[in-house]
Amino acid sequence: MQKLLIKGGKKLSGEVVISGSKNASLPIIISSLLFDDLVHFENVPKVRDIFTLINLIKVLGREVEFNEEKEILKISNKNKNKYFAPYSIMRTMRAGVLVLAPLLAKFGKARVSLPGGCSIGARPVNLHLEALKKLGAKINVKNGYIDAIAPKGLSGSNIKFPSISVGATESIIIAAVLAKGITKISNAAIEPEIIDLINFLNKCGADIEYNSQRKIIIKGVKFLYPVRYRIIPDRIEAATYAVAALITNGKLLIKKVNNEHLKNIFNVLKKIGANIKIFKDSFVIFRKRKLKPFKIITKPYPGFPTDMQAQFMALATQIKGSSVINEEIFENRFLHVSELMRMGADIKIKKQKAVINGIKNLNSAEVMATDLRASVSLVLAALSATGTTTINRIYHLDRGYSKLEKKLNLCGANIKRVND
Ligand code: EPZ
Repeated sequence: MQKLLIKGGKKLSGEVVISGSKNASLPIIISSLLFDDLVHFENVPKVRDIFTLINLIKVLGREVEFNEEKEILKISNKNKNKYFAPYSIMRTMRAGVLVLAPLLAKFGKARVSLPGGCSIGARPVNLHLEALKKLGAKINVKNGYIDAIAPKGLSGSNIKFPSISVGATESIIIAAVLAKGITKISNAAIEPEIIDLINFLNKCGADIEYNSQRKIIIKGVKFLYPVRYRIIPDRIEAATYAVAALITNGKLLIKKVNNEHLKNIFNVLKKIGANIKIFKDSFVIFRKRKLKPFKIITKPYPGFPTDMQAQFMALATQIKGSSVINEEIFENRFLHVSELMRMGADIKIKKQKAVINGIKNLNSAEVMATDLRASVSLVLAALSATGTTTINRIYHLDRGYSKLEKKLNLCGANIKRVND
């Protein structure tokens, strides 16, 4: 296993280039299973989850070529289609459950391992399965596997999600594009990553409409023709580096972003005391004044993203006064708290609420990464701490951040990656 050694206390200054969105890439790449012809994606991030997905797509019979330097991914269909997604792959990447949708839509059958939970929660898939049944799938869950068939193919239906789910919304969009008839989704998730999936499929000939009232209408079509498609920038990566600038009292130019997708986060950062100058596809961020404590509640987009909760908690440890964070999306997404406390942070948890009393300086410590965003919150804390912090199990970090230490060291950080 590998770990990071981070010598803190340096003000970051320089430029960071943002990679493509992991959470847009995963559903869009999975939707390529709907196609017979070669599919070509650009701006695909070089992160662990993408390599895991490439393995899964190959196991399902496709040929995949990933030019990591150019970040171009090509998937071709050699007509050796398989319908079995094994636990060995699924247990490391939950988004794999999305393959159910294209396999049912295209071939009418699939045997997919239940993804299993992860550190931030049980992560059930009931919303995916109930909605797929409404499109005509017959689903049986036994021995850790989902056995699904659609003997008469999938047909459009009205689906009202009882709670908002990014993945379940993606499942139904992918399942419905080739279904007979019209599918109407209400209470859909409308994250930028979902809109990117819709834009890709529509460019390929799908007929999908959506609005800000969480309504999505999909009219089934007969064929899809793949087009060359560029994945949107990763808004969570961009926001993470914005917090890195503030927590080190530095100044960063963050490039290759979509500022529209960051508006909700910019509003919170400005209230805390950030100065943000927006340009066409970049922004500059630094402290305008002494940072002020804040209160955030994580919500589905366009609310405050749960994927930024841990990073803002690291920032709160450096802000004098009492900040409050309510995590309302996942039941167990405070695993970074105990590790931040090892660095001297003053945090109290009561159910889904964390109260953080900012202190002068965190001190270095040996800490452990537990999940993707918790890991990066420890990196942020270490950048501002005095001394050298060791972060163990950084494979969690590599799942979603491409070249993290390279990007930060180019801005003056002092981070070394070492083997255990
Ligand atoms: C996506 O996960 C993201 N992952 C997550 O990012 C993100 O935190 C999450 O959406 C919320 O924005 C990808 O896009 C690959 P959900 P997903 O279905 O789709 C419950 C990261 O750090 N639920 O919107 O799994 C669920 O347990 C990752 O990049 C059910 O109960 O999230 C959670 O409490 C972490 N039944 C809530 O809904 C279901 O069938 C929201 O989950 C599905 C979900």
